[in-house]
Amino acid sequence: MIVDIIDKKRLGLELTKEELECVFNGYLEGKVKDYQMSSLLMAICIQGMSEREVFDLTKIFIDSGEILDWSSLNTVIVDKHSTGGIGDKTTLIVVPIVACCGVSVVKMSGRGLGYTGGTIDKLESIPDFKTDLSDKEIYENVKKVGAVITSQTKDICLLDKKVYALRDVTATVSSIPLIAVSIMSKKIASGADKIMLDVKYGNGALINDYDDALKLAQLMQKIGETYHKEVRYILSDMNVPLGYNIGNSLEVIEAIEVLKDNKKGHLKDVCVELASNMISMAHGIGVDKAKEQVEEVLLNGKAYQKFLEIINNQGGDVNLLKISDEVTEIRANKTGILGKISAIEIGKLSLNLGAGRKELTDNINHSVGVVLKKQVMDRVQDGEVIALIYGDSNYTVDNFSQIFEIN
Ligand code: URA
Repeated sequence: MIVDIIDKKRLGLELTKEELECVFNGYLEGKVKDYQMSSLLMAICIQGMSEREVFDLTKIFIDSGEILDWSSLNTVIVDKHSTGGIGDKTTLIVVPIVACCGVSVVKMSGRGLGYTGGTIDKLESIPDFKTDLSDKEIYENVKKVGAVITSQTKDICLLDKKVYALRDVTATVSSIPLIAVSIMSKKIASGADKIMLDVKYGNGALINDYDDALKLAQLMQKIGETYHKEVRYILSDMNVPLGYNIGNSLEVIEAIEVLKDNKKGHLKDVCVELASNMISMAHGIGVDKAKEQVEEVLLNGKAYQKFLEIINNQGGDVNLLKISDEVTEIRANKTGILGKISAIEIGKLSLNLGAGRKELTDNINHSVGVVLKKQVMDRVQDGEVIALIYGDSNYTVDNFSQIFEIN
């Protein structure tokens, strides 16, 4: 009985593979109802799962959909995944870098929901860029330019789609085992050989605490190992937005600046770390050696050329990017050191401008967002412009202290 399985988890007991199959496959088939699954998910959130349960559930998720196989490409396929955050445009930078270092990438990305953006939305700010490639197009594009960035094909991990939509509205997103199962089932079903994870912690991330982010990263690595996939991770701070630009077109523009090697700082550092590890795994070389290659392709312009190649190959033209011409300045309210730029508050501001969606079916405005002119620890003068808001915002100076703190 479904109720007995839910009750078992409520009591903190381990579920067998058969019990997990019964509830989760039953949910996919419509035999188990939303209210029953919600109850089980909340019990999992509170009681957690053993590693064995996590491995079993990952397998159930993988088997619920198509499993992609890129072996006909005769190359090692490397993938990356970020657990999401504000201003996270790392995919746009990392994919061309590793592709021009001879590593093949099939990157399946998603759309944003809530405060965090999605790579596919960012790419769709480039007019005519095609994000829904068929398997045949993926194959041909990887052969031709070494990389694709595409939306997830409809048939991978069908259970994840259904369960994630329910988690989103039942306060069960932040469970470490459920996040691990959700992410790793999709990565494994997408057919990558090597997986690089960027696990975020902080107020703008799914997980607030560094130690919890570490537990999540280690659990995902163990899941990967059970499928003989090499998995590496970095943990990155999402208490402040990543980089200076937040919002779709604005993030593409910042990615281009990093690829042209015009911008140093935290965003570039995270991208170099991710790209170096991906190259290191694919080519079986040390991370330091891979890092030299990364710096070289940034410096000699090849990474930027590869970005243009990938974009053009999927039909896009970066010269057509649009930014709103409605601009509001945010000025410092005193002289001092910028102590806080709250990622979550910038995320909310950007969402309210229309850069993100409140519901999955909402349309977004690609041309709006926020550009930070300063970073945490920068010195600012009273009245100095520290950020620009692009788009129609209800920002007033009363909102200042929610987002920034000057000490
Ligand atoms: N991203 C996912 O794909 N799944 C989660 O559960 C959380 C973030």
